[in-house]
Amino acid sequence: MSEKLAIQGGTPVHTTGWPTWPQNSGELWDSKVEPALKEVYLSRTEGLPAPKAKEFSEAFARYCGAEYGVMMPHGTDSIMAALTGVLDLDGFSDAGEIIMPNYTFIATASAALDRRFTIAFVDVDPDTFTIDPKAVEEAVRPGKTTAILPVHLGGHPADMGALQKIADKHGLKVVEDCAQAHGAEYDGQKVGSLGDAGAFSFQSSKNLTSGEGGMVTTNDVDVRNRVVAFKDVGRHPEGERWEYPRLGWNYRASEYLAALLNIRLDFLEAETLRRNENGDYLRKYLNDMPGLVPPKLSPTTTMHGYHLYMTMFDPNEFGGHSRGEFIAALSAEGIPSSSGYGTPLSDSEGLKYVASKYPDLIRRLPCPNIEKACAGSVWFGQNILLGSRDDMNDIVEAVGKIHKAFRANATPVS
Ligand SMILES: Cc1ncc(COP(=O)(O)O)c(C=O)c1O
Repeated sequence: MSEKLAIQGGTPVHTTGWPTWPQNSGELWDSKVEPALKEVYLSRTEGLPAPKAKEFSEAFARYCGAEYGVMMPHGTDSIMAALTGVLDLDGFSDAGEIIMPNYTFIATASAALDRRFTIAFVDVDPDTFTIDPKAVEEAVRPGKTTAILPVHLGGHPADMGALQKIADKHGLKVVEDCAQAHGAEYDGQKVGSLGDAGAFSFQSSKNLTSGEGGMVTTNDVDVRNRVVAFKDVGRHPEGERWEYPRLGWNYRASEYLAALLNIRLDFLEAETLRRNENGDYLRKYLNDMPGLVPPKLSPTTTMHGYHLYMTMFDPNEFGGHSRGEFIAALSAEGIPSSSGYGTPLSDSEGLKYVASKYPDLIRRLPCPNIEKACAGSVWFGQNILLGSRDDMNDIVEAVGKIHKAFRANATPVS
């Protein structure tokens, strides 16, 4: 006899809630946040010359092992700025074709289109869900391709070694989309320090957040200077206020957000370690349970960023019940999850519109692994991995309970 599922009126496995995000508290407000925001307020320096943004940019670059950081208002404009800096774009000329995974958030693509790239969308590796270097190699068009935009999806670093080899062979630039991968490491080196530049997001769901925010990291001073020009109306970092050696826009970040991020950065490493411990623990138990495949780590992943815990659901192992039924049953047991990106990005309404109006802008290569991922993924949010060992045991118990009940009864649940 299997235990009655919560969705059918049984007792839920987990009733004690989950860590909230961000991890705010009245105590932290009193001890750190209020004094920091008050300092900005009383200094009357809420924008330029932006000492807090500078302090945070330097601290975050140090954290990533990169030479330079430039704080931005969002992840989207960080990608735009990084591409501008790396390829020395003025924003008006054709930037060539950029190769990116067809399995990412819309901003990866919209930022590149904004900077006048055409896009080649390629498949991902079926184990890591990051861009497949073989697919990249096949997509390169000599004379047309200018850059690769790997996305460290869910926090798993893309195969940067293989991608860099392809980039070197064809003279391409590499810009990392690190929006979901703060603190992740490829072969002992943090993302954001591996390619020609990295772009981060501090949007509200991200593992380091100020509600909205972003950062470009790079080891190249010329790239840094062009990124600064892009976000600060064309200025040079050491230039005069009314001098504009390049054309730029205003993407300067708020000093209040920089002050908040300066505080929260101190917690990032410990939180990342906790997510890794819980991620490893879950993997150990889920591996014994056929039908919900935990995320795999490539041998070069020395630290996962775990913005997402990306599992794959197999209905055949769950008595033919659908992923939707599984997610609903899990939610009733007190464990939130989602089905992730529903289609390859190129099939989203916004990009289909672009492709139909401007067919030369988008090239979609075969993406069988992405189609499988879209059909089978079950994602858990990063805050879940901040839970206790008991919380992790509840996940394992709930999955096991549903597994047993679904296999015992093929009648659909809702
Ligand atoms: C992979 C990826 N790239 C880019 C972005 C854009 O960041 P933002 O929302 O801060 O503009 C996000 C998140 O929102 C993302 O997940």
